[in-house]
Amino acid sequence: MPLTLRSNRSTLTQFLIEERRRFPSASGDFNALILDVALACKGIAKAVAYGELAGVMGNHSAEEGGTVNVQGETQKTLDVLSNDVFMRRTEWSGNLAGMASEEMDDPYQIPKLFPRGNYLIVFDPLDGSSNIDVNVSVGSIFSILRAPQDVIDSGRDVVDTDFFQSGSQQVAAGYALYGPTTMMVLTVGGGVNGFTLDPNLGEFMLTHPKMHIPEDTHEFAINASNSRFWEAPVTRYVDECLAGKTGARGKDFNMRWIASMVAEAHRILMRGGVFLYPRDTKDASKPGRLRLLYEANPVGMIMEQAGGRASTGEMPMLDVLPTSLHQRIGFVFGSKNEVDRIERYHREPLKAEEKNPLFAERSLFRD
Ligand code: F6P
Repeated sequence: MPLTLRSNRSTLTQFLIEERRRFPSASGDFNALILDVALACKGIAKAVAYGELAGVMGNHSAEEGGTVNVQGETQKTLDVLSNDVFMRRTEWSGNLAGMASEEMDDPYQIPKLFPRGNYLIVFDPLDGSSNIDVNVSVGSIFSILRAPQDVIDSGRDVVDTDFFQSGSQQVAAGYALYGPTTMMVLTVGGGVNGFTLDPNLGEFMLTHPKMHIPEDTHEFAINASNSRFWEAPVTRYVDECLAGKTGARGKDFNMRWIASMVAEAHRILMRGGVFLYPRDTKDASKPGRLRLLYEANPVGMIMEQAGGRASTGEMPMLDVLPTSLHQRIGFVFGSKNEVDRIERYHREPLKAEEKNPLFAERSLFRD
């Protein structure tokens, strides 16, 4: 019997409808929005899967409208295409009051020909896109917020500050991973569930219910080429991991770095681990590499909902109040006990050998 007919798994649609039954007053708008996002991700998955055959590899050309996004990063053709797919699939439904994306300087206004709704969506349409040309897994990340009440009441255009809500206010968050299989991992606040795209049916099927991150791990991920820019607590943590059995931790660690955060987040969700892209001294204008609103907050919510943790290194990520749309931030996430330990190292006073003037300026605990 064909694989697809044998399956008795829930589809994403079925899962959402069954979840909604627990909230009889819910309108269904929210589910419709998630399904629009899922459709956008299926479209992006197809474009990614066709690769060179679709003629969508390489950098976005100047003739097509530009080459560099608001982050100063070179835009890939697929970045621009994925952004467009996300916008078009979600703008029409009447569920959104506005959106913001890594690829757009300013918030995007829902065109006047469509009704406006109660939610805001913030997304990174293709995270890790520098990996696209070398056929390594990439992903899309999204965060859904409730629009401020006056936006809902007035239907006015959205402004940056409407999106300045802490991660703990997210209504839902998720990512799609375009790997050997396409997956969508979603939280609507009651745990984390993973869905695998059945290519025959074109449906996301619930394959990973109630995902849970082990509290302990012996695997860490960091871009070690930045080590000379790290702050002392990060150096201490990594040194102890590298010392393995012979050091303070008394166990050997393994290291991974894919340079594709969605892929790293997924690995950690599946088997534990810790990821660090900490604040460092590399570039004073960038307090961290990753973006708060559409990378750290959604991945942070997923981690916390799966029993893991997400932190800036110093405080819970989901407590941070954003101050700009494309704000960068140090990001540490994964197995709870490791993230707790990294936060503790940031709180403990520095030892004499760690009091390097390079770090003193930014250390919270300088004396
Ligand atoms: O934010 C983009 C991103 O590609 C992440 O997915 C990834 O974790 C990180 O940047 C990689 O950065 P680097 O190139 O410094 O290793």
